[in-house]
Amino acid sequence: MKGSGILVTYPKSGTIWLKAIMFTLVNRKKYVIKENHPLFSKNPHELIPCFEFDLYLHDQIPDPSSIPSPRLFATHLPYFSLPKSVHNSASKLVYLCRNPKDTFVSLWHFINKLRVEKMGSCSLDEAFDMFYKGVSPYGPFWDHILDYWNESKKNSDRILFLTYENMKEESSVHIKRLAEFLGCPFSAEEEESGMVEDILKLCSFNNLSNLEIYKTGKLIYGQESKVYFRRGEIGDWTKFLSPEMVKRLDQITEHKLSGFGLKI
Ligand code: A3P
Repeated sequence: MKGSGILVTYPKSGTIWLKAIMFTLVNRKKYVIKENHPLFSKNPHELIPCFEFDLYLHDQIPDPSSIPSPRLFATHLPYFSLPKSVHNSASKLVYLCRNPKDTFVSLWHFINKLRVEKMGSCSLDEAFDMFYKGVSPYGPFWDHILDYWNESKKNSDRILFLTYENMKEESSVHIKRLAEFLGCPFSAEEEESGMVEDILKLCSFNNLSNLEIYKTGKLIYGQESKVYFRRGEIGDWTKFLSPEMVKRLDQITEHKLSGFGLKI
């Protein structure tokens, strides 16, 4: 892969899953899929650093040479907030988008799992109001995905636009697109040997969420690392959203995205 690979997501779109897949894909010659694969001992968030959390958080300019090649990074930043160095580089951007209803429900659960007890829980209505109005460090959900979508249409060699739903439903088709985009396509021998399925199995929800490091591990702030895994399904929103919430999300999605050829 020339340059770096950068995974971009709006929070709760399946970042950890795509990190696991991208890491395994680009390193498959270095780390064969067996029990001592790095994913068994390290969280994908440790294997692929995030610009705004891991690299620049302490106002330090990171030393890219300390990051092993092929270099992978991640970010939640909106397209127009990416640093110039990214825009001017040969880096490849992989954007993973998820439908707004599941993204919101996932976000609401996550916020509550991370909240310290004395703050009390965040109600569904309160969280909905913030999501709907775009109150987030990364801006409104719809603008985030639309900017990357439009840029991916203009420059498909540079930005690959994937959806959580397609990755779930047609995993092998899209993992092959991803491998090709990142400059490491599967060879005929790899396909015959079942490499595509092996990677998908290694990175599957069931496999990752049952690894010991998630069952017992802690994040740096003390929360349990299993907070990254909840259900990993499409359509879980039906259990939580009121008809009014569904109507409002459908309307804003239609209003913001219609005319751009993006269906989510
Ligand atoms: P749910 O809360 O709907 O279950 P992020 O990594 O961007 O924070 O996204 C978290 C969401 O991705 C959670 O969704 C989580 O369960 C889901 N997820 C985590 N690992 C996954 C995997 N291997 N396959 C599919 N979904 C996964």
